Order: sequence, then structure tokens, then C-alpha cells
Amino acid sequence: MQLLVTGGAGFIGSNFIRYMLNKYPSISIVNFDKLTYAGNLENLISVEHNPKYHFTKGDICDKSQVHAVIKKHNINIIVNFAAESHVDRSISEPDIFVQTNIMGTQTLLEAAKALQVTRYIQISTDEVYGSLGETGYFTEETPLAPNSPYSASKAGADLLVRAYHETYGLHTNITRCSNNYGPFHFPEKLIPLMITNALENKELPIYGNGLNIRDWLHVEDHAAAIDLVIQAGRPGEVYNIGGHNEWSNIDIVREILTLLGEPMDSIRYVEDRKGHDQRYAIDPSKIMEELQWKPHYTFGIGIQETIRWYLDNREWWQRIKTGEYKNYYKQQYEDRLLF
Ligand code: NAD
Ligand code: DAU
Repeated sequence: MQLLVTGGAGFIGSNFIRYMLNKYPSISIVNFDKLTYAGNLENLISVEHNPKYHFTKGDICDKSQVHAVIKKHNINIIVNFAAESHVDRSISEPDIFVQTNIMGTQTLLEAAKALQVTRYIQISTDEVYGSLGETGYFTEETPLAPNSPYSASKAGADLLVRAYHETYGLHTNITRCSNNYGPFHFPEKLIPLMITNALENKELPIYGNGLNIRDWLHVEDHAAAIDLVIQAGRPGEVYNIGGHNEWSNIDIVREILTLLGEPMDSIRYVEDRKGHDQRYAIDPSKIMEELQWKPHYTFGIGIQETIRWYLDNREWWQRIKTGEYKNYYKQQYEDRLLF
């Protein structure tokens, strides 16, 4: 199996590469990543000398780079993680989201079609379904109703993937997972931001009333699900991935502070995210029944291990938080925290 993993230097891609190399000694993986602010080769230090792993710096929007890497390594499967992934950044700078998430996906699909790639897996998100009220779940039949520039760009990409299957017969799959957590999570997202801010004695900014709900899944459980889809996903099918683990944001933050033994007084309720989706919750019946996937981690164990990882890997996140990130943090939070 010659796998091209795009966006493999990010949070989920790097965890997926480690998972696959550990599980399949004969697999060969090429990580193709532009190394944006979110891409970090330190995430892959543990595999960088593995002869089955190769890194190529490149942009999924660049046709000649994409064709070259597929040809050079005789790629037969593409798993596309590469994306701009942060909702807040999409609200202030939507252009790059359309470029990378839509145009980049189309470039990969064209290359897959032209170069006889046998399988194309698109890593999408539950956010394409929009927002839920107090009850109900997202199934694969839930209509797409994205609300942020990020989720709209991911939904646009999903429709292209569907079109390449229907029109050209490309063997595609789309996975739509809920919120991931675990090691190497970039500290702009809720869980790593709250853990690292607490460790730095900084304020913990909660958007709105803190009652928005997310359905959290450990990143290794996501990796295992994608592996099953690669092995046995039926052509053209969509698979939702989630572990029935819904938490309000404020409860997650209180849990993190409790586990760290920190007081609650650093919590700050701040101006809400524009267009903030109220609730996400996945119905994972299809992947559980068809591909026999089930999550391995309980949230209790997963969050404790994750907090331990951030305690043990301070240099990793401190390096990120002292770089360009400082400007992002100021722009995103300075005014919010003033009022
Ligand atoms: P991330 O932001 O941590 O990583 C994205 C990676 O893509 C980075 O390494 C970046 O350098 C790379 N990249 C960006 N633009 C590129 C380009 N033009 N060409 C090549 N590489 C490029 O994101 P993540 O959280 O690991 O998410 C990975 C994928 O999973 C995304 O497609 C995201 O939509 C999806 N997803 C994320 C979650 C979550 O909870 N984080 C949940 C469901 C789905
Ligand atoms: O559901 C899957 C999606 O989960 C992925 O597709 C996205 O790539 C990923 O970023 C994530 O999106 P969210 O917007 O749900 O994740 P985020 O960690 O940014 O926010 C989680 C919740 O926490 C959300 O309700 C907003 C809130 N929040 C977030 C931040 C960064 C805060 O209250 N304060 C914050 O500072």
C-alpha cells in the first residue's frame, strides 16, 4: 500500500501516520504538507527515520507538485487531511479556506483521476451538517447546512468528491468526524488552549454562555476509523465518526481545571463567536455496523492522558505559543478579554 497523506504534519494527520506505521510494517507513507502555521514536523520526530516514511513539502493547490509526488512514489491511495481547519480564522480570513479546502481538494481529485489512483479518502467534518438543537444526531443523510466559512469550504469540497465519484467513477470515501482531542493538538483549539493557558496562569476565554456542545473523540479512535474506511469503505460512501461523548464547553473547561488542580477563577466569559453552532452530535451507527469500528478510549482516560502529554511536552507548545501565534492570540482575544 503506497499512501499519500496530505496535511500529515498537522494534528490529526500526524497521529494517523504514527498509527498506520505502527500497525502495518509493510506500508509506505508519503506525507505531503505545505507546512503552514499549523504544520509542524516536530509532530513526527518519532517516525522521521522510519524507511517507510517520507516527507515532501508541497501545496495541494499546486498541480505540478501534486502530480510529481504521486508519480515519484507510485501512490495508489490518497488520504486528504490538508486543510485550513480553524473556524475562528475562517471568520477573519475566509479566502485561504476557499483556496485550500475547495481548490486544493479539486486539484487532488483531478490528479487521482488522471494518475489512476485507486482510492481517494476525504477527511471531512461533522460541521458540514450545521447545528443541532437540544435533541437529535447527525446521520449521513442529514442535509448539508454549513454555517461558517470553514464548514462551507469543507462542504464544497465534499460535493466535489461526490461529483468525482458520480461522474468519473473515482473510488472515493468521505469521513465526517466530530471534534478530536489528544496529543499534538494545536493550542488555538478549545482543549489545548485551555490546558496550556491554565499552565501559564492565563485567563481562559469561553465564548458566549459556554453552553455550546461538542462531541469529543480521541484522535487515535479517529485514526482507527479512517484505517477501516481505507480497508473496506464502499465506493462513494460517507461515514460519520463519533463516540457519543457530548460536553458543554464550560463543563470541559471545569473538568480540565479540576484535573490540573487549578481554581475556577481564571475562567472568563467573552464575546461569542459569530454564527456559533450550538450543538454537534454524531450518530456513528453506520461505521459501527458496517465496518465494526468502535472507540477504544473513554473520555476519562483520554483527557487525563492528554493533559499528561501537555505537562510532559511543554517545549512543544511553548515554542508554538511564543512565535507568530502571539499575533494571532492578540488579534483574536485582546479586545474580548478587555471587556
Ligand atoms: P491542522 O490545522 O492541525 O492541520 C492541517 C495540516 O494541513 C497542516 O499540517 C498544514 O500545514 C496542512 N496544510 C494546510 N494547507 C495546505 C496546503 N495547501 N497543502 C498542503 N498542506 C496543507 O488540522 P487538523 O485538526 O489535523 O485537521 C485535519 C483534517 O481533519 C482537516 O481536513 C479538518 O477539516 C478535519 N477534521 C478536523 C477535526 C478536528 O477536531 N480537528 C475534526 C473532524 C475533521
Ligand atoms: O466538529 C469538528 C470540528 O471541530 C473540526 O472540523 C474543526 O477543524 C475543529 O477546529 C473543531 O471545530 P470547533 O469550532 O468545534 O472547535 P474549537 O476547538 O475551535 O471550539 C470548540 C468549542 O469551544 C466551540 O463551541 C467554540 C468554543 N471555544 C473555542 C475557543 C478556541 C471557546 O469557547 N473559546 C475559545 O477560545
